[in-house]
Amino acid sequence: FKTGPLFGKKAIVTSGPTHEPIDPVRYIANRSSGKQGHAIAAELAKLGCEVTLVSGPTRLEAPNGVKLVEIESARDMLVACQNALPADIAVCAAAVADWRVDNEAGQKLKKDGSGQIPELKLTENPDILATLSQAGDQRPKLVVGFAAETQNIREYASAKRIRKQCDWIVANDVSPSTGTFGGNENKVHVIARNQCEDWPTLSKKEVAKRLAAKIADYLKED
Ligand code: PMT
Repeated sequence: FKTGPLFGKKAIVTSGPTHEPIDPVRYIANRSSGKQGHAIAAELAKLGCEVTLVSGPTRLEAPNGVKLVEIESARDMLVACQNALPADIAVCAAAVADWRVDNEAGQKLKKDGSGQIPELKLTENPDILATLSQAGDQRPKLVVGFAAETQNIREYASAKRIRKQCDWIVANDVSPSTGTFGGNENKVHVIARNQCEDWPTLSKKEVAKRLAAKIADYLKED
């Protein structure tokens, strides 16, 4: 896509879950399908943007015209995002594990019949959105986070935006009844410093299209 309002701009998009190893064959993960993040990467590319999509394991194909970097853990995702800098835009739609196993086993944990249960010790993962938002002169001009909440959606998301220091945060309700994780639709609130837009329930593709258009509009004076 060599034309469009975002031609000449670079974007990093994160998508999908991360897998945090317990031992060589087991991991901790979550229900993210990558549909929302991949759709955003696709729509930014359609507007002419050069997109690096950093994704955890999903069943999805790389969207047309997008460079896909496949990773597993949050630590790998951070390195891949840092390698993709400099960029004008970052959109963090991945469901990154907040914690990983600190005492990852080098060999498969064995159930040896003694009834002993392994104990997992967790430690905090790096925060990719916060790192990109606070990257000094490497900071993308527009950093957009997502907030997955199950209650007080707008309030919690707004606090997250301030804590992580991104420009916009796209809040969605991930209560099981909404089907947001893994489903094809999403109902989002797009929160900026002085503004909150409540979008109706839309397909994830339509959310991506509107978000890409909003990003292009924001950067058009650039
Ligand atoms: O993949 P789908 O099935 O289509 O589902 C889409 C989605 C629900 C995963 C997506 O719309 C969404 O909400 N993504 C963010 C999920 C999440 O982890 O939210 P959070 O509120 O825990 O994190 C807030 C923000 O910080 C997010 O931008 C997240 O990418 C980022 N983060 C979190 C932790 C971490 N260690 N590093 C991060 O970058």
